[in-house]
Amino acid sequence: MSTLLRGRTLTFHRRPINGEDHRAYSYHTDGAVLIEDGKIIAHGPFDALTMAHPNAEIIDHRPNLIVPGFIDPHIHYPQMQVVGSYAGSLLEWLNRYTFIEEQRFTDEAHAERIADLFMNELIRYGTTTAVAFCSVHANSADAFFTAAAKRNMAMAGGKVMMDREAPDALTDTAQSSYDDTKALIERWHGKGRATYAITPRFAITSTPEQLEAAGTLAREHPTCLIQSHLSENDGEIARVAELYPEDEDYTAVYERFGLFNDRALYGHCIHLKPRERAAMAEAGAVAVSCPTSNLFLGSGLFPHKVLQEEGVRIGYATDIGGGTSYSMLRTMDVGYKVAQLQGDRMHPLQTFFAMTLGNAQALGMEAKIGTLDAGSDADIVVLNASAMPASALKMERVETLEEELFLLQTLADNRMITETYVAGVPLKSALS
Ligand code: GUN
Ligand code: ZN
Repeated sequence: MSTLLRGRTLTFHRRPINGEDHRAYSYHTDGAVLIEDGKIIAHGPFDALTMAHPNAEIIDHRPNLIVPGFIDPHIHYPQMQVVGSYAGSLLEWLNRYTFIEEQRFTDEAHAERIADLFMNELIRYGTTTAVAFCSVHANSADAFFTAAAKRNMAMAGGKVMMDREAPDALTDTAQSSYDDTKALIERWHGKGRATYAITPRFAITSTPEQLEAAGTLAREHPTCLIQSHLSENDGEIARVAELYPEDEDYTAVYERFGLFNDRALYGHCIHLKPRERAAMAEAGAVAVSCPTSNLFLGSGLFPHKVLQEEGVRIGYATDIGGGTSYSMLRTMDVGYKVAQLQGDRMHPLQTFFAMTLGNAQALGMEAKIGTLDAGSDADIVVLNASAMPASALKMERVETLEEELFLLQTLADNRMITETYVAGVPLKSALS
């Protein structure tokens, strides 16, 4: 059984150099995506596809825009009930709210409930893949991967490893975090669409012994992702310097333990020194920008232009619950404004690339997700820029694709997500 989604289709081949770089993407005004068994078989002009596949069931999404599902490369699923907690800065926010909330995940039923609600929320916002931090408890990762498998979603995540500078109820040990992570990798990594991410929370909450264990896991499981936090906040950076006096800077800590390579995703990376940026570029590690979180916690402005120019790989993410929106569209809107403040302007073609193929490349998963190319998994979002009265009004003045993309980003709202397909199955409309 094959299905033909009809609408305007947009997919990227590479990052657009600027707004005139029309060869970086394919756009069909009467396009279609052919899906079979959860995979994309072809995309292109509707006429040609329907002629070649006359028996395909047609789902007509005209005049809406069909794009690859959004990818969120840094998010904390146990923080759904932390969002919007009133705090001064990162370390206060962690100690006062986050480290309290995450203790609830000792309770399996709680973890299962939140993991289910988490997947549903992502689907509402058009996010089809995320890389998530779970809590310290192994069962929180089981709940996460179980909820993803139920929906056949391509999710990455891992239990956080943290053995100091947090409440006792929220700490493991170097050995137990190694053992638990190894068992979780064996249970989940590569099963269905799951990817395990080895997850030392950050240098403050891990002893050298635990980072050593994380590095060993990374060496033993080279196809796993690695995720952590780096250079988010001044107080954090100062504490890392106290805890790791022998390392020349924050980045050097992760480098020393073998956690700095092209499978590693580091949230924030706001205050990196030139040596650290050069090390990131050299290692191919990814700097994940979390703009709503950085503004909410007053952490700083992500130096997009400098990192880009220096060849650092970049991803964009929500960072719920430090972040304040589940929406990748809203995230890019705020990222755009952060760049504006630094005299740098991202073009909407670049921001749509970033949410789709760009973030897929950050995860090394571009062969499977992030495009509408044949052979990809059919994770697809249907967008309607006229979904709200105010956006419909503005659409009366929109003449080009670029203007429409910019409107979607600027007035970002989940009502604009008409449908979210996961492996070819429409899941948003099925939510209550
Ligand atoms: N650094 C260590 N843990 C966290 C977290 O949960 N959120 C953010 N924003 N930064 C962190
Ligand atoms: Zn984070």
